[in-house]
Amino acid sequence: MTTETELLPILYVPDPRLRAKAKPVAQGDSRIPDLSARMLATMYKAPGIGLAAPQVGELLRLVVIDLHENDVPAPVVLVNPEIVAESSETAVREEGCLSLPGQYADVTRPARVKVRYQDLTGAKREIEGDGLLAACLQHEIDHLDGVLFVDHISALKRNMLLRKLAKELKLKAQG
Ligand code: NI
Repeated sequence: MTTETELLPILYVPDPRLRAKAKPVAQGDSRIPDLSARMLATMYKAPGIGLAAPQVGELLRLVVIDLHENDVPAPVVLVNPEIVAESSETAVREEGCLSLPGQYADVTRPARVKVRYQDLTGAKREIEGDGLLAACLQHEIDHLDGVLFVDHISALKRNMLLRKLAKELKLKAQG
């Protein structure tokens, strides 16, 4: 990339685009290399470990992640990711989301997943993992179907968290 990567604005709840079902990326869609590079730059700046295209207003099945374990950058671009296997065993992990800044909750999900996707060349790939990687993959793929981590917690907890978010975003907007 010859120019500095332009960052994208991250949408916050309750933007309706975060609740939409994203469309599959067509084979050879020429926007994807640039969009995924901008998504990665936006995610690093936030900072976060995962970002899905609907969070930047692009209703496409595209996800970027980088767990940045041991401080080593390891960006992964997942085009049309799909969970093809998950463990019956579950794990609880605290999650947050760049679209719900400052909000966190314990979420229960399958402990291990296998995801099939295409890389930027269109080649079919698989990624499999547990722990943070499993939670991150499921969280990001959920975004492609308009599902947020708060949908996995009790209605009482969700409403509390969404009210707190609305209040904090309002204060932020007022400067
Ligand atoms: Ni998220």
